[in-house]
Amino acid sequence: MIGILVFLFCLVNSPLVHGTRDILQEVSTGSETITNYAGAILRPSMSGTAFYGVRGTVSVYNPKVDQEQMSVASMFIANQDSNNFDAISVGWHVLPSLYQDSKTHLYIAWTSNNFEKGCTNLQCPGFIQTDKSIIIGKSFNQTSTIDKFPVELSLAILQDSSTKNWWIYINEKKIGYYPSSLFSNMTLANQIVWIGKTTNPTNTPSPPMGYGVKPNGVFGHACHFKKLAFVNNSRMQQSVTKDMGEVRSSNNQCYDARYYEDGTNGLTLEFGGPGGNNCENSS
Ligand SMILES: *[C@@H]1O[C@H](CO)[C@@H](O)[C@H](O)[C@H]1NC(C)=O
Ligand SMILES: *[C@@H]1O[C@H](CO)[C@@H](O)[C@H](O)[C@H]1NC(C)=O
Ligand SMILES: *[C@@H]1O[C@H](CO)[C@@H](O)[C@H](O)[C@H]1NC(C)=O
Repeated sequence: MIGILVFLFCLVNSPLVHGTRDILQEVSTGSETITNYAGAILRPSMSGTAFYGVRGTVSVYNPKVDQEQMSVASMFIANQDSNNFDAISVGWHVLPSLYQDSKTHLYIAWTSNNFEKGCTNLQCPGFIQTDKSIIIGKSFNQTSTIDKFPVELSLAILQDSSTKNWWIYINEKKIGYYPSSLFSNMTLANQIVWIGKTTNPTNTPSPPMGYGVKPNGVFGHACHFKKLAFVNNSRMQQSVTKDMGEVRSSNNQCYDARYYEDGTNGLTLEFGGPGGNNCENSS
């Protein structure tokens, strides 16, 4: 149940997506929760007409999160039209209400039929795991620290062009797939997101996101996604460039996101922030 709640998306009209929902506005529950995000979103208008996959390598941290809070770093691929919303997500999160601990966990999630179906990890039927060497929902023994930097997780969600099933890759290993039949309309996707996200009850402080610091223009200062790529309209892998996507956050006081580029690491999305008081969504 909680898995479904965590994956619900609110019905907010974003100024950036007229008349439709905005994938960045994902929330955990209805009215009693504050959601914040900082990340990048790609839409087809920026890069062809459809997406068939997404890739990214995220640094893994262990932000301090209370029982009622959540802190996530994840990647989404989604298809949205006027009637429908289908999405798949993979990443890490700290979610004490689900795991009864404050560790960082690997997670996968899906939703379809306008949020009627879907769940986190293996809480409902849907995901077909073909390689059980990676435990879905497992906690990380090690996360990044100043001394031990960075612990990274390479992630991909890639569609098989013949079956249209969506395969999840963790550290370059194919671990299983979401059958195309789960989704109402996801033979292709029209949104991709790399994002940090937090939730907390209203009138309480918001938890840290990522490493708990905002990007400051130095690589590795904040949590990051690197090797950002997608499968384009020609079913070829294409790297994200600085001119692609919107990079933004819901509340610049508490969290931030920005691209950073250098010769060694290429383009990375740096994101995070301390949270704290007065982090009500301001965008
Ligand atoms: C992580 O911890 C588990 C449980 O304590 C242990 O079985 C596993 O070997 C550890 N893995 C690594 C890479 O240290
Ligand atoms: C499926 O989604 C696409 C947008 O990606 C939309 O153009 C198309 O009309 C949708 N198809 C159906 C049957 O709803
Ligand atoms: C898809 O990606 C390939 C390889 O990066 C590129 O050559 C091609 O132009 C891209 N196609 C479209 C439609 O953007």
